Amino acid sequence: MKITAVLLAAGQGTRMKSDLPKMLHPICGRPMLFYALDAAHSVSTETPLVVIGHGAEAVREAIAGAANCVVQEQQLGTGHAVMQAEASLKGKTDLVLVTYGDMPLLRTETLEKLVAAQQANPGPISMLTIVHDNPRGFGRVLRAPDGTVAAIVEENQATPDQLQVKELNVGGYCFDANWLWASLHQVPLSPKGEYYLTDTVELAVKAGLPVQAIVMEDFGETIGVNTRVHLSEAETAMRARINEGHMLAGVTLVDPPSTYIEYQVSIGRDTVIWPNTYLFGSTVIGEHCQVGPGSHISDTRVGNHSKLLMSVTEGAVIEDHVDMGPFARLRKGAHLSSHVHMGNFGEVKDSTLGPGVKMGHFSYIGNATIGAETNIGAGTITCNYDGEKKHATIIGEDVFIGSDTMLVAPITLGDGARTGAGSVVTKNVPSDTLVVGVPARAIRKLERKPKKP
Ligand code: UD1
Ligand code: MG
Repeated sequence: MKITAVLLAAGQGTRMKSDLPKMLHPICGRPMLFYALDAAHSVSTETPLVVIGHGAEAVREAIAGAANCVVQEQQLGTGHAVMQAEASLKGKTDLVLVTYGDMPLLRTETLEKLVAAQQANPGPISMLTIVHDNPRGFGRVLRAPDGTVAAIVEENQATPDQLQVKELNVGGYCFDANWLWASLHQVPLSPKGEYYLTDTVELAVKAGLPVQAIVMEDFGETIGVNTRVHLSEAETAMRARINEGHMLAGVTLVDPPSTYIEYQVSIGRDTVIWPNTYLFGSTVIGEHCQVGPGSHISDTRVGNHSKLLMSVTEGAVIEDHVDMGPFARLRKGAHLSSHVHMGNFGEVKDSTLGPGVKMGHFSYIGNATIGAETNIGAGTITCNYDGEKKHATIIGEDVFIGSDTMLVAPITLGDGARTGAGSVVTKNVPSDTLVVGVPARAIRKLERKPKKP
């Protein structure tokens, strides 16, 4: 049996009061449309079809081939939106599953139940409902005295009595395709000037055909986003869902409500995430790490057994056994090799710190490569910018940079070099050489200590 999901995403989202199409508002770091699209994909045997309209080009670009798209030029209601799918789907599918792009929390399992109900339904429609005291503007499900579904009435058209009805239309339907294409054109124009998909229910009932309702239990799944208040509710619910997934996979979240993990992030077992921590974008964190409290980690790859205390990182790589913070900042292109120690008030940009480098306090390292086991003294600065261009600093292995050294790039310091406190280094320093002063000049040759085993 062919099942095709149709996702409605053409509405303007007027109530969002936004320049951004509603479908592209992010929830946990991802445009809301994609959650509904994932669920649609998993129950659709055919490629899902997304009805786009408002902000069509931006939405199509975001979808980027993940589904077929059809444009609803004028947004004349949800029934009219489904009509736009007729030309591409007529004769090509047995069932049409319709969901709304603004329902990001609907689970695949729920849609599976909906499809199964319709497969067993001799009538043409199965739909999702929920019984709840907070109607949130949803349509009300009217039942006949014998308990069967009779109609859906939209909130703005409901009588005071109908407004009291607690059974709500969630916004997920599975239709017999042939019946749908024949009946959609009979949907009357609503007083609001729209063709409501919900009016198909009454059409079926009037024709003596049964409509099946699946009454859902989890209200959290039914959050539809019409305003920014709903957006924050959806964000909170999705965050809780994501956090729960990590905890069940072996990650400790000390305080889940203050832990903000975006959709794509992955975290290894036995890692502990402390409160007030934000893990964003494509961040990947290994096993046995400690992150936070108070860290903001974006698009960063972290190995195993590393510790990121009150740190901010973006586009960085942190290998194993790194110890960072408090108050450390990594900008794009920062790479801390294994066993690096980076203490408070340091900033690293577009630089690689080799294995075991120590950078304890108050330093700026930009456009630099630093060899293994080098010590960067407090207050060291790579003066990488001459006002026009960025220049590289290359520091060898086992170098000792004295406190408050200014390294005026481009510059290279050989292995085993040493700078005195407060030096301003403007010329390359050969290996095993001590430089001091302002500007620094060579004063003697050094003998390097043998490496500890
Ligand atoms: C709709 C339902 C309501 C249900 C609620 C659940 C209708 C008439 N009402 O109301 O019974 O309780 O969802 O969330 O269906 N859209 C289009 N083209 C249009 C109009 C809308 O594609 O011309 C899309 C929107 O982008 C959105 C979805 O359809 O994704 C629903 O539209 P919206 O305006 O949010 O309807 P609700 O008022 O939420
Ligand atoms: Mg809605």
